[in-house]
Amino acid sequence: MVFGSAPALLATLLAAGHSAEAGQVCRPTPDCFDGRCLGTPVEFLPVDLQLDSWTGLSYVRSNTSVRAHSLVQKDFGIFLHGPKLRPKQRKPGHYAPPLYVSGSLVDKIWRIDDIQTAPAGAVAASMKFVSWASAPSTMWFVPPARDGGPERFLVAEGNPFFLNPGNHTSEMWAGGVDLVDEEKCTTLFPVSALDRFAGKVVNTVECHASGYCFFSVWKFYDDSLPSNDDCLYWCQTSSPDDPTTCTQSGILTDESGKQICHVSGTGAVHGFMLGKTDVNNSNSFDMLLLYTGKGTFDTGESHMEMLKIVVSNDGAPKTVSRRAWGTDLTNKSIQVGHDVGCDHAWTDDDGKYIWVGSFREKNDGVHMMDYDTGKLVHSIHGISSVIPNSKYTYVSGIDGTGSWGKPGSVLAVATCQKYGTQLTGGESAMLLINISQGVTAAPAHVTTELIV
Ligand SMILES: *[C@@H]1O[C@H](CO)[C@@H](O)[C@H](O)[C@H]1NC(C)=O
Ligand SMILES: *[C@@H]1O[C@H](CO)[C@@H](O)[C@H](O)[C@H]1NC(C)=O
Ligand SMILES: *[C@@H]1O[C@H](CO)[C@@H](O)[C@H](O)[C@H]1NC(C)=O
Ligand SMILES: *[C@@H]1O[C@H](CO)[C@@H](O)[C@H](O)[C@H]1NC(C)=O
Ligand SMILES: *[C@@H]1O[C@H](CO)[C@@H](O)[C@H](O)[C@H]1NC(C)=O
Repeated sequence: MVFGSAPALLATLLAAGHSAEAGQVCRPTPDCFDGRCLGTPVEFLPVDLQLDSWTGLSYVRSNTSVRAHSLVQKDFGIFLHGPKLRPKQRKPGHYAPPLYVSGSLVDKIWRIDDIQTAPAGAVAASMKFVSWASAPSTMWFVPPARDGGPERFLVAEGNPFFLNPGNHTSEMWAGGVDLVDEEKCTTLFPVSALDRFAGKVVNTVECHASGYCFFSVWKFYDDSLPSNDDCLYWCQTSSPDDPTTCTQSGILTDESGKQICHVSGTGAVHGFMLGKTDVNNSNSFDMLLLYTGKGTFDTGESHMEMLKIVVSNDGAPKTVSRRAWGTDLTNKSIQVGHDVGCDHAWTDDDGKYIWVGSFREKNDGVHMMDYDTGKLVHSIHGISSVIPNSKYTYVSGIDGTGSWGKPGSVLAVATCQKYGTQLTGGESAMLLINISQGVTAAPAHVTTELIV
């Protein structure tokens, strides 16, 4: 892949002279933001994925498969990100709650509604185009602005190539975080006018009930090309239920006071997940950081860290502790010289397991890991062959509802196909994985041993 240098891109951007605040591209669709439109009928087709259990040293392949359903749409392009289920809006009898997902190369966000089982093992749904956004990745939902109004969301936008086509409303912007409501987009981040003009490539947005939000600035070529501003930012919002501005913001520091930013040879925080809040202190919570370096599909750098964060009403959040987490996946599940490529994570409803997605070829999948110990339990593999073309398909986002073995539990996993050859075509799939079966890869059914 060939990229222009950052200064050259900036020069182009300045010459183009577009102001990007609450940009030209980001806007809710007038007739569908609230989801009350018909949408397009779509069908998820059944696929079986492989369940591999982890012995502590290697994978054991079971003959058990996990039922999943795959939705492929031309409109998706090759980059889907940021799936987000809305469990409280689930209708009785539906297979899964409404699901939001973003098409990063087509600047679109959809709501996939009325997800129900259909004949021939398929799953039917209605796909609704709810908003334009500049290279959207993940979303974080916030309550409606008015009684009876639609939910709003913060969207992390990030495009290291700067040009966002939108609906012929092209703009030059690297990205940021916008609050999208039924009428408009409001830019929260970057905070300073200069940074806001150029934008920053934001990958992940999550907020805590205390009103503090966090944004990871990460470029996929992190650690391959200069990416010095790839840092993890905090933002104290005007109000947890109405986050229209950052009243204070900065770069999150670790327990020694060092800023959490890209380090050569380690990468930067790509995805992160806010974990449990302490039962005795609503201002103290866990935060899982997923570090990734290099935009390649085999080698690179990945590791995870579990932080304990304490916020006060005023000022920067404090990291009070930090420990390595999930080394079964990052250090043991692949051989030396290869890398898993940590992506995003979701905590199940029991708070017992964290599901982590990874995108590199030697272990492309989703992995159930113990919340407290970080130990790997089992992995779901086979996602790279869900789309039957010659391009590499990889995990690019994860969310879920329920927990392993509990009725009605589903994982929502987004995929991408390898960038750089997209002119030769390509697709991406939105997967729903049925984790309510609670099958286990019992050693009695072991057919092969493998180390992927
Ligand atoms: C797969 O497992 C089932 C029990 O879950 C067993 O009856 C069957 O024989 C196994 N098949 C193979 C090929 O091992
Ligand atoms: C795209 O822009 C055209 C021209 O402004 C407009 O008529 C059309 O409705 C827009 N489409 C969408 C999906 O927003
Ligand atoms: C919370 O506080 C109660 C009462 O002081 C104590 O018994 C309990 O262990 C605390 N829980 C945690 C997780 O710290
Ligand atoms: C995991 O691997 C990384 C990089 O190779 C190394 O720095 C770290 O110490 C390893 N951690 C464990 C627990 O083996
Ligand atoms: C999901 O798994 C459960 C438990 O095996 C099963 O009852 C249900 O029919 C499955 N649903 C779909 C759509 O696969």
